[in-house]
Amino acid sequence: MIIDVPELSLVALVGISGSGKSTFAGQHWKSTQVLSSDFFRGLVADDENDQSASADAFEVLHYVAGKRLAAGRLTVVDATNLQAHARAGLVKTAREHDVLPVAIVLDVPESVAWERTEARPDRTFDRRVLSRMSRDLRRSIGQLAKEGFRKIHVLRGVDEISAAEIRYEKLF
Ligand code: GTP
Ligand code: MG
Repeated sequence: MIIDVPELSLVALVGISGSGKSTFAGQHWKSTQVLSSDFFRGLVADDENDQSASADAFEVLHYVAGKRLAAGRLTVVDATNLQAHARAGLVKTAREHDVLPVAIVLDVPESVAWERTEARPDRTFDRRVLSRMSRDLRRSIGQLAKEGFRKIHVLRGVDEISAAEIRYEKLF
C-alpha cells in the first residue's frame, strides 16, 4: 500500500499503545525527523513514562516541530494522538507554518497490541487503559477530516502496516 505524503508535512501517527507507531516511525523516517512524546517526557522529567510531565513535554515538542517546519523539514509526531485536543495542537502548529497536517492511523486489533504491551518492561498499565484507548481510536478515525487533517491514511491490521510504503508528493 502506497501512502502519499506531501514532501513538507506534519505527520501525526495515531494509534493505541502497542500498535507499532515507534516501530513504524523507525522504519520510514530518520530518527531526527521523528518527535516522540516519550523522548520529550524523558527530556523534561528524566522519565519517558512520567505522564505528569506530558504538558511540558508536548509544549517542547510543539516548539521543536515549529522550528523544523519553519525550516521546511518534514516532521513526524510519534504519540498516541488519540485525544482531539492533542490533534488540534498539531493541526494548529502545521497551519501556523503553512504546512499540511497528515494523519497516519495504525489500527491493529486490541488483542495484538495487548500481547505486545505485556511483553514490554517499559509499559505497565492495565488492560482497561488499552480498552479506553481503543474506544478513543474508534471515535477519532471519523473526526480527523473535520479536524483539519488534509490527508488521512488508515492502515488496518499488521499486514497492511508492514506493507506500507511512503511516497512523497512534490507540492510545486
Ligand atoms: P506506545 O509507544 O506505547 O504508544 O507504543 P507504539 O505504538 O509506539 O508501539 P511500538 O512500536 O513500541 O511497538 C510495541 C511493541 O510491539 C514493540 O515491542 C515492538 O517491537 C513490537 N512490534 C511493533 N511492530 C511490530 C510488528 O509489526 N510485528 C511484531 N511482531 N512486533 C511488532
Ligand atoms: Mg511508541
